[in-house]
Amino acid sequence: MCGISAYIGKNNNAAEIVFNMLSRLEYRGYDSAGIAYIKKGKPAKISVVRDKGMVEDVKEQYIPEHSDLCIGHTRWATHGEPSKINAHPHLDCKQEIAIVHNGIIENYIALKKMLEDEGHKFVSATDSEVLAHLIEKFYDNDNVLTLEDAVRQAIALLRGSYGIAVISSKEEKIVAARLGSPIIVGIGKDENEYFVSSDTNALLPYTNSTIPLNDGEIAILTKNDCKIINKDAILMQKKIEKILYNLQSAEKGEYAHYMLKEIFEQPRVINETMRGRLRIEEGIVMLGGVRMKDEEIRSISRIVFIACGTSLHAGMLGKYLIEEIARIPAEAEYASEFKYKFPVLDKNTLVIAISQSGETADTIASLREARARGANTIGIVNVVGSTIAREAEKGIYVYAGPEIGVASTKAFTAQVTALYLLSLYFGRIRNTISGFALRELVEEFARIPEKVQKILDNANAIKDIADEFYNYRDFLYLGRGYNFPVALEGALKLKEISYIHAEGYPAGEMKHGPIAMIDEGFPTMAVLIKDNVYNKIMSNVEEIKARHGRIAAITTEGDDNVKKILKKDDKVMDIPETLPIFYPFLTVVPLQLFAYFCALKLGKNVDKPRNLAKSVTVE
Ligand code: AGP
Repeated sequence: MCGISAYIGKNNNAAEIVFNMLSRLEYRGYDSAGIAYIKKGKPAKISVVRDKGMVEDVKEQYIPEHSDLCIGHTRWATHGEPSKINAHPHLDCKQEIAIVHNGIIENYIALKKMLEDEGHKFVSATDSEVLAHLIEKFYDNDNVLTLEDAVRQAIALLRGSYGIAVISSKEEKIVAARLGSPIIVGIGKDENEYFVSSDTNALLPYTNSTIPLNDGEIAILTKNDCKIINKDAILMQKKIEKILYNLQSAEKGEYAHYMLKEIFEQPRVINETMRGRLRIEEGIVMLGGVRMKDEEIRSISRIVFIACGTSLHAGMLGKYLIEEIARIPAEAEYASEFKYKFPVLDKNTLVIAISQSGETADTIASLREARARGANTIGIVNVVGSTIAREAEKGIYVYAGPEIGVASTKAFTAQVTALYLLSLYFGRIRNTISGFALRELVEEFARIPEKVQKILDNANAIKDIADEFYNYRDFLYLGRGYNFPVALEGALKLKEISYIHAEGYPAGEMKHGPIAMIDEGFPTMAVLIKDNVYNKIMSNVEEIKARHGRIAAITTEGDDNVKKILKKDDKVMDIPETLPIFYPFLTVVPLQLFAYFCALKLGKNVDKPRNLAKSVTVE
């Protein structure tokens, strides 16, 4: 939701380092940005540079000064509009403490009232500023010796979530802490420099040695030392975790946008996620991270997928796969709803949390609810060491590599790959799929990356179609069966990067209301591939044509039937044939590219769409 970065060490260009880290965190939020650094002197002072706008805009206001201690923030506004005065870092009354915060302080109004009654003066409309004054309140207390003591006492009063970094002009240290919002400590190559970041992407240029904080933990960083304590000030033994991907994989390379690069990485991502898990010749699937005994798998009575956004669409597809292949009753739930609906779970329910970032607050909250209610849990995540990866009992990593574009693409494909593997794995153990059928599926599964590549090779044809449709203000996306979640995903892609209103619908449902919207100005994207419901969706397309609705359709190569019912201004995007169950891998790619090219044509910020952030770490 917001990006936090901090540096302490031998370099005197701490502000430069922190700004560079912030620019790598901007996909987490980019309403406003700022840094606070310690200027040496008698006494040392805190300098702040902050404003509304992107990191590079704010950095232009910074006059380079020597400093070896700095914190920074790039914001996605929750409380208080994007503005200079609401930008982080926030200071205490005496301007001796600076804080940056990611999360929501749910009880900030009561805390602010208490502090104002004690004479504290507030300048912003944010919840975060409360923390600066709360730390000041404890820091001023005679028996509070250190900044970390003051921070520990302050955060004990907070309700909600926080990932914070705090500095004071009185001490040469950074104090960082987390509850619900990620904080990762980076350890400099020669040990006498430390970094703090909201995620590993900003640490990559400096180190791949990290210590992710757990909820309730506090890091105390000086030039010579890194200590991690818990809320009771007990020293924690933490192991160093290495970042598994390299800097180059997190760069745009020759692509115009991260999103385009990530769309084109999908063949590799499917292969990477399959690698070592699919024995094609024997037709078997191996999922080490699931670590469930065969009888445990056979005793699963129900599976519930919990996720948000694109990851929920993967979960909705997972429902179809699990039910068809492993014959286990399954459902996909909005994580933001699941936690608060008193879910009926027991020890035979398997709850599967799907999340690219592994830090989505709604999904974390529902995962914790599932565990509290006795369900077994699996996490399907893309970020090693993320909260969901650590809190789910079992896990399947999807090796998509860092996904920087706010609109999720390759992570979806990687998640779907993991869900196919899981369905085949469970189906085999529960004997709901024969060895022969499994081998046939596994062989076709292995051919999917090359079929995706074939679609990518034809990206310009999709661009030409986008050039004809980008000016519409509304779109209906229709799909059936496995391609209903794909229709939802395609509509979300179009919405979130081009801001065109798009609704995904099961094609059969269109007749029960949405068809009233259809006219010349309201086009439909139809996933019209040759599967078991082909004739049904063909009828739906004819119903739309009868009402002069324009069609863009995803069709199977060589399908001449479709062209008989379409008119001159309707357009088709051909995809290769495959087994019905695998079409989602192929139908989602044209929809990703279509959304990308529409947004490009409209001059939108494809990688950083307005109002969005890559990882929503607040409920
Ligand atoms: C998808 O393009 C969006 N960026 C958003 O819906 C995203 O999928 C959702 O916030 C879930 O994120 P997660 O996968 O990191 O949990």
